[in-house]
Amino acid sequence: MNFLPKRFLLLSLVAVFMLVFAAACGGGTAEQPEEAPAAEEGTEAEAPAEEGTTDEEMPMEEETPAEEEGTTDEEMPMEEETPAEEEGATDEEEAPAAAGDASLDSPPSVPNAEEASQYTGASIVYYGGTTGLEAEIDDALVAQFTEDTGIEVEIVRRPQSPTDTINQYQQLLANQSPDLDVIMLDVIWPGLLADNLLDLGPALGDVASEHIPSIVENSTIDGKLVGIPWFTDWGMLYYRTDLLEKYGYDGPPATWDELEEMSQAVQEGERGEGNDNFYGFVWQGNANESLTCNALEWVYSHGGGRFIDDGGAFTFDNEATVTALTRAQGWVGTISPDGVTTYGEEEARPVFEDGNALFMRNWPYAYATGLQSGIADDFAVAPLPSVDGEQKAGTLGGWGLGISQYSENPEAAIEFVRYVTSPEVLKWRALVGTYAPTNEAVLADPEVLEALPYLEVLDQIEVVARPSGETGANYNEVSTTIFQNVNQILRGQDAVQLAPRVNEQLQQAAER
Ligand code: GLC
Repeated sequence: MNFLPKRFLLLSLVAVFMLVFAAACGGGTAEQPEEAPAAEEGTEAEAPAEEGTTDEEMPMEEETPAEEEGTTDEEMPMEEETPAEEEGATDEEEAPAAAGDASLDSPPSVPNAEEASQYTGASIVYYGGTTGLEAEIDDALVAQFTEDTGIEVEIVRRPQSPTDTINQYQQLLANQSPDLDVIMLDVIWPGLLADNLLDLGPALGDVASEHIPSIVENSTIDGKLVGIPWFTDWGMLYYRTDLLEKYGYDGPPATWDELEEMSQAVQEGERGEGNDNFYGFVWQGNANESLTCNALEWVYSHGGGRFIDDGGAFTFDNEATVTALTRAQGWVGTISPDGVTTYGEEEARPVFEDGNALFMRNWPYAYATGLQSGIADDFAVAPLPSVDGEQKAGTLGGWGLGISQYSENPEAAIEFVRYVTSPEVLKWRALVGTYAPTNEAVLADPEVLEALPYLEVLDQIEVVARPSGETGANYNEVSTTIFQNVNQILRGQDAVQLAPRVNEQLQQAAER
């Protein structure tokens, strides 16, 4: 088992997000120390069970690269007395197995139930998610909230695709509809929706102050706190440990060439043994926001940047971008199904979890569902590959919660947001759903660190932000231009020919 010291994980996680968000407003990546003592073999799926954290996992790494790296020292909270620190060797044996006490049926009770009950009888509408365990988690939280406060919450399941979701929100908000109160807010949207959302600073500023500051900053537009951070995401490579071993590989691929080679060999072998539906690599190629995320990872890891340069000029037509997109085009119908050009996260996941793919690109939530699947003991997580000599990358994602300024029950809505973003709920969501919490103290909690072994990946990648900071209210159009054209390339269009035109379109979209 390859656990990094817990303290190292915490520091690097916080550092990553400090840097990436600081950069997103004009730069966009968080560099990780190259020499991080990272687990070569990725992060084993059975890790959470391996609770017997022995002392060798707890050295305080006085001079880890993470510490040196602290270029933004003033922002590196040292958490003098976080639970992680206190935990020490003494409680080690007592630490329950990850997720041990947490269950989907028993979410935490509402910490300020008495106070919140002054809004008993109020009714709010919450736009929640349906990806992975999201719907079950929401159901449990809403039931508990209503039981403890008497506030009714109607859950509307937003579309899985953020692209469809933002269209729905914008329509409702344009009509000043009172039919949505609390909304899930993608990390790319604060600039887009700021004018229509309440300033949560006065009521929930204290809650926000416990979260990773850079993520709070990302939710603050012209001094207005438009969302409370909830969980954070980045793209990772899920892989089958048993199959790599069966075919004689030592570990996951470091380069895209290796991924292709392994995919071909294992696909051929598994098909030869009778599984005609087996593929090497599944990912998200559908023409929506998730394709922008995938494409950014391919491009960045080929040395092509992040579609935009520091001066705000688009770079879709640079050579590395075109090479990366042409490579991905070559996967369709070979190591990936033809249908991958219509896959979102939830189409890729069952292929992998049903045992029909060697590799999958996905977000942290898929760790929890993987643990409930037939391949629970046979998968692990690693960084997405790069080409030789370039940085491995994971696109920064994540969600917060915002409140419509047309809400007729803003106080009740605030109490709901206060509850679901509370440290208690964030910890519970991490344990039952492997969501990476944005609250710093929760991130330092030993049980949470044990439950999220995939955090190790962060030490080996750059977390890369989409150009939403630079393009603000125009981001949706910019991203639509990216994913529609990338989808066309995946379907056979020539990237070399298309790229200059796309670049012009991007420039126009950003200037509107
Ligand atoms: C995940 C990310 C989000 C991203 C989306 C794309 O939900 O958290 O930021 O936009 O995937 O599908």
